Amino acid sequence: MKIKVIVGDIAKIETDAIIVNFFEGTEHLDGDIANIDKALAGAITQLISQGEIKGKLNEITVIHSLGRLPSARVVVAGLGKEQELSQDRVRGAAASACRLLKQKGMDNIATIAQGAGIAGISLESAAQVVTEGALLGVYSFRKHITKEAEHGEIKQLIIVTADETKLPIVEQGCHRGRILAEATNLARDMVNEPANYMTPSRMAETAKGLAQSYGLELNILERQQMQELGMGALLGVTQGSQQPPKFIVLNYKGSDSGEIDVALVGKGITFDSGGISIKPSEGMSEMKGDMAGGAAVMAAISAIAQVKPQINVTAIVPATENLPSSSALKPGDILTAMSGKTIEIISTDAEGRLTLADALGYAKKLSAKLMVDVATLTGACRVALGDICSGAFGNNQELIDKVIAAGNEAGEHIWQMPMYEDYKEQNKSDVADVKNVGGKYAGAITGAQFLSEFVGDTPWVHLDIAGTSMSEKERNYLIKGATGVPVRTLVNLVLSLANSKGGEA
Ligand code: BES
Ligand code: MN
Ligand code: ZN
Repeated sequence: MKIKVIVGDIAKIETDAIIVNFFEGTEHLDGDIANIDKALAGAITQLISQGEIKGKLNEITVIHSLGRLPSARVVVAGLGKEQELSQDRVRGAAASACRLLKQKGMDNIATIAQGAGIAGISLESAAQVVTEGALLGVYSFRKHITKEAEHGEIKQLIIVTADETKLPIVEQGCHRGRILAEATNLARDMVNEPANYMTPSRMAETAKGLAQSYGLELNILERQQMQELGMGALLGVTQGSQQPPKFIVLNYKGSDSGEIDVALVGKGITFDSGGISIKPSEGMSEMKGDMAGGAAVMAAISAIAQVKPQINVTAIVPATENLPSSSALKPGDILTAMSGKTIEIISTDAEGRLTLADALGYAKKLSAKLMVDVATLTGACRVALGDICSGAFGNNQELIDKVIAAGNEAGEHIWQMPMYEDYKEQNKSDVADVKNVGGKYAGAITGAQFLSEFVGDTPWVHLDIAGTSMSEKERNYLIKGATGVPVRTLVNLVLSLANSKGGEA
């Protein structure tokens, strides 16, 4: 979908449909919607008085203009109560409207920067979130469906601004929104792709493509280099699979300090069968998405490379399958991580933390100043927070707060979980330094505590996205399947870190 910003009057533009908004409880129409209502001989006012248009959030009403306006249809998108408006509601409303118009086969549509100037939303942010909502809302994954779709794609969305002097601001917002949404959709594509396509090698190839497109530096470590580095924990997980593991490192250099300001580490299990501690067959296909953290950090760094903040970022993805075989890791085995710590394997299904132990160890070895890891780590986190919030765990409150704030801006909810030292007790082993499962209770926390063993004093946040990486149903700008969480959070975080460093994004 092409997105174009133009100066003009939305009532005068000729498209298949124009989108305007309406707040719940509004008594008098003014501005664009009032002009349009007048042109439509009061059709909108009538629908309001008849109760068909209430302005409820995500309510969509389509009115045919029958030649009274240059555009064939007017879409009235409900934005809920004006005082409750948020950027995320605008994203959702834009998504609902665009999705419906796509289903109706529209090619060319127009909107204004919905919500601008209301509830503290700037014009630039409004343009950004409308763009994000539109691109995220019309996303679909049909790559493997040979039958042609019933409806095509919307070819063009025009964002109309009445004030010529504001054009650059709207364009800037639209540009940022496009980068963020496209990166999110890239992560969605990677996660939706089945495991026979999205193998560790394919992830590495994807990284190569991103490096070429966006000027990132790429380094892929093969099994032999993992062995040389002593990545025993990661290698233990790779043991049962025929697919060669890939340790993917992408560098974005926005400053010449030579230091890595932020390492983004993502879990990259391209399929998690559980290994010898095999999972029940029901729902196992979901585990093709166990590389969602890896996809998110790859997509985020590609967006960062387009925004070009003055900061150095490294994305790290230890990519492998977790499968049973006669050479697979076994319960009871003891592995030695790169840091030298030994790990007793209780369950081969607690594999993500093993791969991350060495990926975090590698980030530490590179002297990264901050680390954020993203992982579909525990079913327990999904049980605790559902598909609404990702769990945040860490050793540095300031960084945790920044991650949560970045999430709020993105409309990606993040809830902090406790990290009391007392939980560490559960990970103690009788035969090694730690064990990889901390028992039945507090599973998301003991998983995070396990990771903390490999982090040391480096400020670190762990995001458990086991519940949020996939959506079971369509919701606002999410579609069924991969959500692309937390790509936009990570980009916002890096931009805010770059700003507080003094570099301008
Ligand atoms: N990939 C899973 C976690 C997961 C579960 C992600 C559901 C998405 C949806 C992870 O590797 C896993 O198997 N975790 C185990 C840990 C346990 C053995 C300590 C779990 O949550 O059951
Ligand atoms: Mn597992
Ligand atoms: Zn897993």
